[in-house]
Amino acid sequence: MVKRIQSIRGMHDILPETEIHWSWLEAQIRMLVESYGYRRIRLPIVEKTELFARSIGAVTDIVEKEMYTFEDRNGDSLTLRPEGTAGCVRSGIEHGFLHNQLVRLWYSGPMFRHERPQKGRYRQFHQVGVETFGMTGPDIDAELILMSARLWKALGIKNLRLEINSLGSQEARERYRKQLQDYLYRHADRLDEDSRRRLKTNPLRVLDSKDAGTREVLKEAPQLLAALDAESREHFEGVCGILDMAGIDYTINPRLVRGLDYYSRTVFEWISNELGAQGTVCAGGRYDSLVEQMGGRPTPACGFAMGMERLLALLESQALLPEIPPPDVYVLSQGTAERRHALHIAESIRQSRPDLRILVHCGEGGLKAQMKRADRSGAEVALIIGVDELASDYVTVRRLRGESMQKQVPRSELLLELARHRPSPENFSAPGKAGEAGVK
Ligand code: HAM
Repeated sequence: MVKRIQSIRGMHDILPETEIHWSWLEAQIRMLVESYGYRRIRLPIVEKTELFARSIGAVTDIVEKEMYTFEDRNGDSLTLRPEGTAGCVRSGIEHGFLHNQLVRLWYSGPMFRHERPQKGRYRQFHQVGVETFGMTGPDIDAELILMSARLWKALGIKNLRLEINSLGSQEARERYRKQLQDYLYRHADRLDEDSRRRLKTNPLRVLDSKDAGTREVLKEAPQLLAALDAESREHFEGVCGILDMAGIDYTINPRLVRGLDYYSRTVFEWISNELGAQGTVCAGGRYDSLVEQMGGRPTPACGFAMGMERLLALLESQALLPEIPPPDVYVLSQGTAERRHALHIAESIRQSRPDLRILVHCGEGGLKAQMKRADRSGAEVALIIGVDELASDYVTVRRLRGESMQKQVPRSELLLELARHRPSPENFSAPGKAGEAGVK
């Protein structure tokens, strides 16, 4: 037996019956973000490893243990992108579209992290993200949150909770880091192993430990919000003020620190309780130092990314996914000349009615078997082209839903007949000759 090759663990095929939901969701998101003035950018999936190490942070989980890094044939170290922000910043600096400009971008595509796969956590997953550059104030942070809230509303998603926090300026965060580290060192014996390790390298990450003992220690730990610099505090109050005015509920979570190092000031997450352990469907924040840190001129920046798999799982659990539309017309035929005729008729209908989904039966099968398929396809109407039809230039039209009906329609009246079953959408102007009624 030949050994079959399987897909890689944590990397999934998206089959047509599911893909249709992906395309639909992407279209919804695209419509929304473009209505806010965001423009799409497409970036490479592979970047130099150094890009991620320097932006996401050398001592983060992503860079330390989750990246798909390899040497290419030139001996360069490359990495499959684990997220999209670093690439956007790299591209912005490279093409000079960041400095002194107001930029709103969005992107969509696969990301790669070698995490332990489980429900809602994959090794190849997909994000739609937005990034903004050049805006310093709390207005843009709030716009991002309002835009995501509008998306949930447009999709009908309920029960998402918004958590926000401020990490302060880079300096304030550095100061706080020291305070927290000093405090945690004094209680190191009560921390879990992972937190003890992080304590040295990335003490802020100890704040989101799930370990009960560590959480007990954290109760008395110095508070991040208390250590904020005055400007960051004002900025954070600005964001909260806009959210209050817009009636968006949120919780300030002082332990929200995020897993990537580039953030400063506002960070936020939209979380669902319906997805198990991997409940964060959308997350982001401000990263004012990153552009400069990557070699660009100082440029304020803010963005977020949503996990497509998690959003789709949520839409499914809330029964919000659209039904897959059946074909409108199923064309049956038997015999070589009839099949040729059937394809020709279908093409001429498509010429005038590109809105119709027309499925021509190709391959084997008698008319009876084809009719069964037509019925199962969910199509509204079947067109039958047999020997008689071919000889006398008419088409047999059979209604497959509701009250049954079958009649013979001259080819010149076929479009009119189809319009009875499936009227043209309003404002629909067919290409080709205006007022053309028949099919030739
Ligand atoms: P992140 O929190 O690492 O942030 O990822 C954003 C979202 O991607 C998560 O909330 C989750 O929905 C989804 N996600 C992350 N990892 C996985 C995984 N292994 N499997 C399935 N879904 C996953 C970022 O990536 C930042 N670049 C967001 C950002 C943009 N911040 C500013 N701009």
